[in-house]
Amino acid sequence: MQLIDGKAIADIVKGEIAETVKKRKEQGLKVPHLAAILVGHDGGSETYVAHKVKACEQVGFESTLIRFEADVTEEELLSVVDKLNKDQEIDGFIVQLPLPKHISEQKVIEAIDYKKDVDGFHPINVGRTSIGLPSFVSATPAGILELLKRYEIPTKGKNCVVIGRSNIVGKPVASLMMQKAYPGDATVTVCHSRTENLKNVVSQADIIIAALGSPEFLTADMVKEGAVVIDVGTTRVPSEETKSGWKLKGDVKFDEVAPKCSFITPVPGGVGPMTIVSLLKNTLLATEIKF
Ligand code: GUN
Repeated sequence: MQLIDGKAIADIVKGEIAETVKKRKEQGLKVPHLAAILVGHDGGSETYVAHKVKACEQVGFESTLIRFEADVTEEELLSVVDKLNKDQEIDGFIVQLPLPKHISEQKVIEAIDYKKDVDGFHPINVGRTSIGLPSFVSATPAGILELLKRYEIPTKGKNCVVIGRSNIVGKPVASLMMQKAYPGDATVTVCHSRTENLKNVVSQADIIIAALGSPEFLTADMVKEGAVVIDVGTTRVPSEETKSGWKLKGDVKFDEVAPKCSFITPVPGGVGPMTIVSLLKNTLLATEIKF
């Protein structure tokens, strides 16, 4: 069994991005500039955005954080989105989710110019990804593919089962794994809460991508000997072992599943660290090429 070290790969990719930025500076080219809009004071969102800003600093990007109180109107938010769309200095930007209930997340996402949508949430990017056109792929699916590539895990013709059908992970990762490309070229099945005989389906898989958000859902009896297991789960569960009072739990019962796997991602330290790296890669792409 080989552990997929997402933290180590994330550090390597960040180093590569930093090198590219350095070369751009030497050539007098524009330094990538990411903007992030944060509404309210949700603890999780504050942490994620702080990590994104810090990651920009680490690779030499410019970053701008735009904050609003939770009572900002939808109109005000849309007007800032419009300003960022038109601002030549900003290469890409994100609106951190979730948003307060009085604001339509879909409306905000669709207001972002898809050429600056480095989160890859705009329907044009989702559609372009699904038909294999250049696009911004959302962070988690892109991070998963990067890990498969860096560990040279064979995917062609393999039986890949995705558990979970969310718009942010399940659907795009299934779409990417079936593309005529590497990583990809797999035979993909998507399981979800209505799937009959889920255990039978999952136990045929060469590659399992667990993205349902149910702690320790995947148990050893569902996993074929030698399977590759990618754990996307990041549920916060109460814990007395940590200062914060919680810890992250994946969708995989790691201790019993790991011995059966050829490769497995841990939680934390697997897919998680790759997501910010994917955002940085998209921002660099937004600076380098305008599609
Ligand atoms: N909230 C949780 N994950 C994400 C993400 O990847 N992007 C944005 N914008 N909000 C999030």
